[in-house]
Amino acid sequence: MLAELFLDASRGCGVHSPLTRTLLVAAADDLARGGITARVMAGAECDRHGTVPGLRFAGALHRLVLEGRAPTLAKHYPTVGGKPDLDTLWDDALTVLHEHTDELHVLVTSTVVQTNEPGRSAPLFGGLQTATHLAADEAGRRATFPIRLLEVGASGGLNLRPHRIAYRVDGVTYGDPGSPFALDPGWTGRPPVDPGHNLRLVRRAGCDLNPVDVSTEDGRLHLSSFVWADQVDRFDRLQTAVELARLDPVPVRRATGPEWLAEQLARPERDVLTVVWHSVVWQYVSPADRAMGRAILADAAARATPMAPLALLVYEPRRTHTAGRYEFQLLLKLWPAGISLRLGTGVGHGIPFTWDTAPWN
Ligand SMILES: C[S@@+](CC[C@H](N)C(=O)[O-])C[C@H]1O[C@@H](n2cnc3c(N)ncnc32)[C@H](O)[C@@H]1O
Repeated sequence: MLAELFLDASRGCGVHSPLTRTLLVAAADDLARGGITARVMAGAECDRHGTVPGLRFAGALHRLVLEGRAPTLAKHYPTVGGKPDLDTLWDDALTVLHEHTDELHVLVTSTVVQTNEPGRSAPLFGGLQTATHLAADEAGRRATFPIRLLEVGASGGLNLRPHRIAYRVDGVTYGDPGSPFALDPGWTGRPPVDPGHNLRLVRRAGCDLNPVDVSTEDGRLHLSSFVWADQVDRFDRLQTAVELARLDPVPVRRATGPEWLAEQLARPERDVLTVVWHSVVWQYVSPADRAMGRAILADAAARATPMAPLALLVYEPRRTHTAGRYEFQLLLKLWPAGISLRLGTGVGHGIPFTWDTAPWN
């Protein structure tokens, strides 16, 4: 039931976003009573759990606020200089829901969740360093491999520049020290290889069912709307990542993951490590696309050679057997080496992250 999905999403916000949590709890109650939220969400009643309709609802309201078209609500939103008053938030949201019902309905039913989170570049950076070192060891090469990075579900492609970011950790800078985009990745421990090496990304490309063009104001607003509005640091990080993307554009093609991968992986490429990467995408992918994606990857893995290696690197939530809850894990598979590792765990937005290598079965 939709109200339960809203409550699930509110628990996901937890202590990180009291504003979004309050909004979703009140909206769930309104949904259960058949209030205005039910009209805004009409047609989404049968949405799958993984598609997180609550976040589309919160994102649509945030979008109106960012556009300056919901002044009653804007006073609660730190991303536009407001300060949340959780006691009056829902009353003010109701005003906007009534004023913009049709438009909000179009927004929530025509979009998917597009949390394109540049913080995930930090585990990606360490994962790429690890993959290229291990592939070189396997091939008996002294130098690491240059990398071809293929991102499935890239959204606006904000994670296609992991080597162009300055990662500041305990007084040491990894990545690109001269980058206009600096971040503290909040690392406990370090990747299993030295992350101080120069990472060479010779080709980068992405695909998405619904690519976002971050060179446009519409694209920037769209991605910004999915940042929880009381997380100003994350909001600012996204703006910096968009600026960097405009300086260093990388194409994101409109395609389903498997059809695009089949094309990209048609022939093994020599003297390059091909890395297929996805983060927080799997839950949105249809069962048919999942099965097809697995088959295409298995086929490419069977054709990989020590001099044309292939890696799968993912950052996705997995339910742990011990705690029975979800945690975000960075996982690496490498072919033909047959290496399969869990490199560490972190939170949904990639920062903070704990490096801790173990076999991945
Ligand atoms: C939550 S966003 C994550 C974006 C990005 N990977 C990140 O970590 O910042 C999920 C993305 O997966 C895309 N997606 C879902 N199913 C897909 C499929 N079958 N093929 C390609 N992209 C897909 C959605 O369009 C959406 O942009």
